[in-house]
Amino acid sequence: MTVTFRRNIARMEGYVPGEQPQEPGFVKLNTNENPYPPSPKVRKAILAELGGSLRLYPDPGANGLRRQAALTYGFDPDRILAGNGSDDLLAMVARAFVGEGDALACPTPTYTLYDTLVRIQGGRVVGVPYPEDYSLPKALAAKKAPVTIVANPNSPSGTAVPVRELAALADAVRGVLVIDEAYADFADETSLPLARERGNVIVLRTFSKSFSLAGMRVGLAFAHPGIIEGLSKVKDSYNMSRLSIAAGTAALTDIAWMERNAARIRGTRQDLCAALPAAGFTPYPSQSNFVLARRNGGRSARPVYEALKARKILVRYFDTPRLADCLRITVGTGEEISALLSAMKAIR
Ligand SMILES: Cc1ncc(COP(=O)(O)O)c(C=O)c1O
Repeated sequence: MTVTFRRNIARMEGYVPGEQPQEPGFVKLNTNENPYPPSPKVRKAILAELGGSLRLYPDPGANGLRRQAALTYGFDPDRILAGNGSDDLLAMVARAFVGEGDALACPTPTYTLYDTLVRIQGGRVVGVPYPEDYSLPKALAAKKAPVTIVANPNSPSGTAVPVRELAALADAVRGVLVIDEAYADFADETSLPLARERGNVIVLRTFSKSFSLAGMRVGLAFAHPGIIEGLSKVKDSYNMSRLSIAAGTAALTDIAWMERNAARIRGTRQDLCAALPAAGFTPYPSQSNFVLARRNGGRSARPVYEALKARKILVRYFDTPRLADCLRITVGTGEEISALLSAMKAIR
């Protein structure tokens, strides 16, 4: 018997998610989770769903969640699609728009899952490096790709570009412009109005960060009804569980809870950025719930990452030429960030 994968699958590496430690006791500042719990309304809604209804399939259209999202964000429900996390929505975008040999353009470095999803399709990523200040690279539109993706705010840099520049990019690209707003609730601006105004813009949101629901897997796409209809054709039929539909719907009825936590995180982010230079690192200006910090003197940040890990503090290290002297640090609670800074100073 011979088992033969498609050539592109055999050749590619799978996506490597950030580490989820198997032992307890870590201060976990590596995957941009929220340090605060979700709204009590979410817990109540999940418990209410735990009865006999679990024997029934969930609503394939997640209509309750879409209707609530329409109210919360001021969109028509036919402009909204729900996903099993925004990763699921990104996979739908790749399936729907990227064929064999097709290009997806994005500024780099960015969320590496884009590359994995495009490779699964047999397509290729055309990366345009961000300038040193992480402003939007001018050459993106000229790539004429059927899909262009900008994470705004971007990961791993944490930086954001102005929405007016994304509006101009939407007019200049040949195909669709996906704006991945996983971190928008921590930023000063949102591109959501572009999903209402332009026929080629898809804005993605996740509940994993600001709503503290990484473990539930909930995401939303906002776009023209024609795009939503096309994406729906390639989604798994029951892509959202009953529990995630209930959790996402309840979270949207308590926006004040999310905003309070996002404001606390922004406050701690400011404290972290102010304190990093004394620990030998310079932060990039962050609009996210994490901070990319460069080690002074151009020295590799790996020894610091490893020494922190030995002290049971996990941050993210990327072993690539551009990021080798950087650490990406999730903004945790004030206490977690104090523990991190003391450890960083001790290591230095
Ligand atoms: C830019 C970006 N987009 C999407 C995601 C994935 O979000 P989700 O948990 O909704 O799949 C992440 C997660 O870290 C991210 O950094």
